[in-house]
Amino acid sequence: MVKARVSVIGLGFVGLSIALTNSKKQIPTIGVDIEEGKIKKLKNGIPGFFEPQLQSYLDESIKEKLIKFTTNLDYALKNTNLSFLCVGTPPTDDGKINLSFLKKVLKDIHKILKSKKTHHLLVIKSTVVPQTTMNVVLPMFKDLIDKGTVDVVTNPEFLREGSAINDVFNPHLIVIGEYNKKSGKILESFYRQFYKTLPEVIHTDITSAELIKYANNTFLATKISFINSLANICQNLPGTDVNTIAKAIGKDPRIGPLFLQAGPGFGGSCLPKDVSALINFSNKFEKTNELFKAVLSVNQNQPVKVLELLKEFNVLKKNNTVSILGLAFKKDTDDIRAAVSIEIAKLLLKKGLKLKVYDPMAMDNFRKLFKEKITYCSSIDECLRDSDCCLVLTEWDSFRKLKPKKFEKLMKTPNVIDARRILDPKKFSGINFKAVGLGN
Ligand code: UDX
Repeated sequence: MVKARVSVIGLGFVGLSIALTNSKKQIPTIGVDIEEGKIKKLKNGIPGFFEPQLQSYLDESIKEKLIKFTTNLDYALKNTNLSFLCVGTPPTDDGKINLSFLKKVLKDIHKILKSKKTHHLLVIKSTVVPQTTMNVVLPMFKDLIDKGTVDVVTNPEFLREGSAINDVFNPHLIVIGEYNKKSGKILESFYRQFYKTLPEVIHTDITSAELIKYANNTFLATKISFINSLANICQNLPGTDVNTIAKAIGKDPRIGPLFLQAGPGFGGSCLPKDVSALINFSNKFEKTNELFKAVLSVNQNQPVKVLELLKEFNVLKKNNTVSILGLAFKKDTDDIRAAVSIEIAKLLLKKGLKLKVYDPMAMDNFRKLFKEKITYCSSIDECLRDSDCCLVLTEWDSFRKLKPKKFEKLMKTPNVIDARRILDPKKFSGINFKAVGLGN
């Protein structure tokens, strides 16, 4: 393959991580986004969200002039030969995906590539339901594919928030969905340049690659809903602990230990959205999505299960104060998209409780949503002070270190609920302590 010059279109979470890891590898990279404000910030070294390592990668790429940021798609396409499409496909209210951003940018790309003489590879990274590339993308580019100047491949992304940079550098697998060998080979040879040792690559047809992404995330979601269902059983069985059950079944190599951490339910920008989209997509094939529906419904009910623990402490009374430690949908991110904290805060406010919240990173995002309805604290101590109950909702490392003494000293009544299982029940046995999946 001719030396890759990369453009990354759509600089959200996935796009920016991909752009910066490419520039880190000394591959000439152009990051494109339609949002002027975002590009201006990026040029000034502001990522716009928190992700470990991202800031230093951005600073270095700018300093070393390894990356350009622009809103000019024409410039980006004409100066590169491979584009990663990372445009968002957000959920719609009825659980489908919104393809309008992707369609719009594809139309613009087609217009520009029409006049380009040299070959360009379009790599679809955006998560799209099966057959979208076949039915939407390929027909748009048929003339240029027939002419031989454009090829399209699908290449689902598996990186996680909180470990994005590391995940791009160490993927467990690369999936390439292709309609001809040539296009898949171009992308594979790009990855050969990118990685010192090429990770495992699976070549599939385009639609299978799209389905693999949904299968992957839905399976992870299934494991979580499974263990949360067991956690809800354990809570009724004195002496049991879901973590012990998870540890034991995780030893069976057919099950595996990961994604068996019981908690308040899965959130984030992918799992809930992808399970919903798969359910919606498979509605057209009779009775193929019963399991997926159950996975989602268990998850939707999990915040209610957490509130049942509060009920047991008898704190669900008007004007009582609940402290929430942790707002992000998981640690090491400031992302609150589909975070359980939102649902729980809404339910508690509805019951007339007062809320004090603290998160090391996600405060600003939460404030945008709840405005003056709740009290935002600048430290753990401030959040715990004079409260009737504390609810740990995110597994931040700084919360793991908390000792019962702190709760006793600061709270009105030391009622603690660990929805993430980061506190040791034995150490907390001296105060009022309950946890997801702990029978007592
Ligand atoms: C997920 C997929 O893991 C990733 O491969 C894909 O590219 C994007 O979607 P992400 O959304 O970053 O990544 O988060 P993930 O680590 O998968 O966690 C999702 C949710 O599940 C979080 O709310 C997390 O707290 C929860 N979770 C995860 C559990 O409750 N228990 C577990 O054992 C694991």
